[in-house]
Amino acid sequence: MNLLFIADIVAQPGRRAVKALLPRLKQRHALDIVVANGENSAGGSGITIKTAEEIFAAGVDIITCGDHLWDQKEVTELLEKEKRFIRPLNYPAGTAGQGSAIFSRDGLPPVAILNAQGRTFMQALENPFHAVLAEVERLRKTTPLIFLDFHAEATSEKVALARMLDGKVSAVIGTHTHVQTADEQIFPGGTAFLCDGGFTGPHESVIGREIQPIIKRFLTNQPQKFDIATQSILLQGAVVEIDNFTGRATAIKRISEPLGI
Ligand SMILES: [Fe+2]
Ligand SMILES: [Fe+2]
Repeated sequence: MNLLFIADIVAQPGRRAVKALLPRLKQRHALDIVVANGENSAGGSGITIKTAEEIFAAGVDIITCGDHLWDQKEVTELLEKEKRFIRPLNYPAGTAGQGSAIFSRDGLPPVAILNAQGRTFMQALENPFHAVLAEVERLRKTTPLIFLDFHAEATSEKVALARMLDGKVSAVIGTHTHVQTADEQIFPGGTAFLCDGGFTGPHESVIGREIQPIIKRFLTNQPQKFDIATQSILLQGAVVEIDNFTGRATAIKRISEPLGI
């Protein structure tokens, strides 16, 4: 099966890119399932019921999240009610919502989608290595087709976690930095990996925001208003081809698709 992962959808430009480009990507790559990170989909900060609905309506099957999870108050309703929305697994026990979901479609084996968050240079949640290992063992009783969005800052943490999971999951793709890396590969055990998928939104920017206020912030150390940028919109992520029986990845291809004007 072919899985498209769409990296962090940033605000209205990102949502617009998904809506406009997904039908053509579905055709071109014969996609069976689409997963997208939605942590920046509402004005760049968090996710709302409306933006989630818009992303699902555009053809996304499962939405993952990250450190911007709590930016919008109404996320609690999404966490409680929306089975297609998952948050990092390694929040403390008792946190609303779920860290994984099983996606099923007629004619396809079930696919487990998992979301976890790193701890290096980020808020320290529970240890993602232990949390993910336990969850993967549990999910493998249902299916060997497992996809993980690992939302983390440090490349070392992402590579280490993905290497630990080699042979246990189909693919690990990193998110959070908003800068797409060029290290896509399949590890010896059959796990596809990309350290960061990039982001979906305006790339004439500093990771999605207008350039000048960010430079001013670094120059002055004073808070600025960071508006969402508007130009050079790309849909970024990767397509992973997964063997339906073994769950091993057979190909991974980076995506960086421009939204024509
Ligand atoms: Fe993030
Ligand atoms: Fe993000």
